[in-house]
Amino acid sequence: MTRNTLTITDNRTGKTYEVPIEHDTIRATDLRQIKVNPDDFGLMSYDPAYMNTAAGTSTITYIDGDKGILEYRGYPIEQLAEQSSYLEVAYLLLYGELPSKERLDWWEYRISRHRFIHNSLVELIQAFRYDAHPMGILISSVAAMSTLYPEAKNVDDPAVREKQIWRMLGMIPTIAAFAYRHRIGRPFNQPDSSLSYTANLLYMMDYMNQRDYEVNPVLAKALDVLFILHADHEQNCSTATMRGVGSSRVDPYCALSAAAAALYGPLHGGANEAVLRMLQNIGSVKNVPAFIERVKKGETRLMGFGHRVYKNYDPRAKIIRKVAYEVFEATTANPLLEIAVELERIALEDEYFISRKLYPNVDFYSGLIYQALRFPIEYFPFLFAIPRASGWLAQWLEMLDDPEQKIMRPRQVYLGHARRDYVPVDKR
Ligand code: CMC
Repeated sequence: MTRNTLTITDNRTGKTYEVPIEHDTIRATDLRQIKVNPDDFGLMSYDPAYMNTAAGTSTITYIDGDKGILEYRGYPIEQLAEQSSYLEVAYLLLYGELPSKERLDWWEYRISRHRFIHNSLVELIQAFRYDAHPMGILISSVAAMSTLYPEAKNVDDPAVREKQIWRMLGMIPTIAAFAYRHRIGRPFNQPDSSLSYTANLLYMMDYMNQRDYEVNPVLAKALDVLFILHADHEQNCSTATMRGVGSSRVDPYCALSAAAAALYGPLHGGANEAVLRMLQNIGSVKNVPAFIERVKKGETRLMGFGHRVYKNYDPRAKIIRKVAYEVFEATTANPLLEIAVELERIALEDEYFISRKLYPNVDFYSGLIYQALRFPIEYFPFLFAIPRASGWLAQWLEMLDDPEQKIMRPRQVYLGHARRDYVPVDKR
């Protein structure tokens, strides 16, 4: 008869242990019973960068990296991108089910009621230098929100949690727009609650008192699809940060600010910015082969390629590629697109990339779309952070309600000096 257990023999002692297997996983703490001496700490597993360690259970997002599958709450990303809206997807992530028509109306109304930001935040944004990186403004503004809404620290109160979620989803786009207008020295446009989530963002960034101003619906829709694709991606670096910082029971503003800081890095949310800079540096299609050679020699990376989880085509990249071409038709031609297409063509045929299963990821195209929408490059990670806020918050709620979670506290393998005595400075 088969048993759902793993038998481990410790060759140091000859002892055998049987540990349970659940969901193809063993509990790392079950290894602690494996000791040579009774006062040993017990066996640990060593896993830098969490390559093979589940830090929790989740019911939010499912990824099969080998097959290129991404699902939110069981719904395939392709169906959501085609038929849903970003705010509906945010509701799905946060509440677990698709909303009824009444609930969706209620939800959209709740978010639209929280689009205006506190004057202190306006002043904070204005205090930044004109050329401050928008991610610095995001990280600081969200952390500052914790001082404006001190009740947010009551993280055990479901009504308090919910209110902070409305505030963050409502206000983060306004912070984004104001940070942009500050950068270009233009007056701030207050939010317009008659507009959709993404149309309002484009309006706040763009509007300059033009008569008959209208947000281009193709562009608002394209941004909405991008927001759906970026809403959650299970336990990536920033989400793990949201959970880790949130596990100290700090308020969600501080946790989300930390998650945004993690997202800022070039290997994570900063990758779309890095893709654009790479394309600009390559400069022309004729330089593509030489660039690929440099990548293969390990001198540089092909940004927007490769993924820790997807070892097949990123399913988001397929959808976004289609959106990219729709946006390019509705906007002026983008000379960098030609370079991107050539890079993609060569890389997909090259043994170096094939053998390492390096395919374009979502950021390979998102940067090009953002550029076609005329967002400055520095803005790209912010455009990733706006929709990812719903995923971070859904994961934060799940972590808080999980009875197995505690304050996050990884172990280490200490390899430093053994105990030694302090030497006064004149004797060293
Ligand atoms: N260009 C060239 N070689 C690469 C690349 C790349 N973009 N990515 C991985 N490799 C090579 C790497 O050099 C290594 O080769 P070797 O075995 O010969 O040493 C092999 O592929 C495995 O790479 P790795 O660094 O062990 O893989 P990882 O899972 O740790 O890294 C990654 C994943 C996304 C950090 C990496 O692929 C990368 O740096 N990509 C470029 C940055 C990027 O586009 N990031 C966005 C990720 S998607 C958005 C998100 O979810 O945050």
